Amino acid sequence: MHKALATAAITLALTTSAITHAEEKSTRDKAVDYRQSAMTLIGANFKPMGAMVKGELAYDPAVFARHAKDLGAVASIDILRGFPEDSEGDNSDAKAEIWLEWEDFKSKMSDMQRETAALAKVAATDDKAAIKKQFGKTAETCKACHKKFKE
Ligand code: HEC
Repeated sequence: MHKALATAAITLALTTSAITHAEEKSTRDKAVDYRQSAMTLIGANFKPMGAMVKGELAYDPAVFARHAKDLGAVASIDILRGFPEDSEGDNSDAKAEIWLEWEDFKSKMSDMQRETAALAKVAATDDKAAIKKQFGKTAETCKACHKKFKE
């Protein structure tokens, strides 16, 4: 075969197999990716604020407010969409209790959404005591859900 043609054929074969492979990802695995991505972004904004509250990181009101705003934004998306029924399993820390106690899980998600929204608001002020207090309330909502519903 002509060399350029052979290369093109190989490239096409590889591309096709990559596409087929991507399509093989199940709806369940996509949901796991979705919720873990949301939680990763939530954690990435939450952690530096926690370090500032604890004094492990210098308190910078502007940086804190930006993380609080982004946390509020990510938390406001429909995270429940990433929890289709019975989607626990090997690559996930979600417990089966989520679907047995769905109403409680949903209500713990709304608690987090409410408190992160409040945190974004108060972080835009310069009331450091109120900011710290609201960060604590927010952290409680993460813990409440993880304790019961996350491995
Ligand atoms: C309503 C329940 C719920 C709330 C509220 C919640 N989480 Fe989660 N979180 C989960 C579950 C379930 C998992 C495991 C998801 C999986 O592995 O499929 C998880 C996973 C995580 C992860 C690991 C992500 C990964 O890549 O595997 C981080 C980080 C995280 N949560 C941070 C937080 C923080 C910070 C908060 C509070 C601001 C919070 N979560 C609030 C249920 C919750």
